[in-house]
Amino acid sequence: MIMEFIDEKLEEYALLHTEKEPDVLKKLNRETCLKVMRPRMLSGHLQGRFLSMLSHMIKPNRVLEIGTYTGYSALCLAEGMPENSELITIDINEELSPIVEKYIKLYDKQDVIKMMVGDATKLIPGLNGSFDFIFIDADKENYTKYVKFSLEKLKKGGHIVIDNVLWSGKVLEEQMDKETRAIDEVNKFVNQCSQLQQILLPVRDGLMICRKVS
Ligand SMILES: C[S@@+](CC[C@H](N)C(=O)[O-])C[C@H]1O[C@@H](n2cnc3c(N)ncnc32)[C@H](O)[C@@H]1O
Repeated sequence: MIMEFIDEKLEEYALLHTEKEPDVLKKLNRETCLKVMRPRMLSGHLQGRFLSMLSHMIKPNRVLEIGTYTGYSALCLAEGMPENSELITIDINEELSPIVEKYIKLYDKQDVIKMMVGDATKLIPGLNGSFDFIFIDADKENYTKYVKFSLEKLKKGGHIVIDNVLWSGKVLEEQMDKETRAIDEVNKFVNQCSQLQQILLPVRDGLMICRKVS
């Protein structure tokens, strides 16, 4: 369950004054809610528009996404990518592939987005080349591992965005469960990492934005 960090009415107001959710993404959002387990995992309208804006600002040529789910955030990130760019997105759940493939085609991003099915902890070390943007949104227990992999794969000046870093507010609890401890650990790791400049934004479930400075 995602705790709301801002007043519901204020969030409504923010959405009302944010670019509309594109029709295809609205359809994907609806289909995910109807057919797929745990639809709240999908980034959604506000975070999706934020990822799209970041992508338009940075114009990354090569993006790695860890945690595709039904493809919503991959499509948002692909919006701002230049011609001949590539987004690799990894998910361990092969049952999601048909819906992801369907929406990649509907959004006409089949030349940009490449899906990989499997365990990201095993697949990432084998990826060739470097990336200029990495979005981490998969199993929380491996978040610190994903940041360490990202540091190896990211160009200097590249960005990492980590989702769910406030974990419904559970990071404030004294008795943390395993997943919360993993989130707290990655936040502390990033905070003390001399290679990264970072800001933790209390948007939706918490987004950490990092820039690799060395
Ligand atoms: C929160 S969802 C991703 C949401 C998606 N980024 C979006 O915004 O629409 C997390 C996804 O991570 C996947 N996942 C969990 N463990 C994984 C692993 N070890 N390797 C790759 N994917 C994994 C799950 O199957 C799930 O689809």
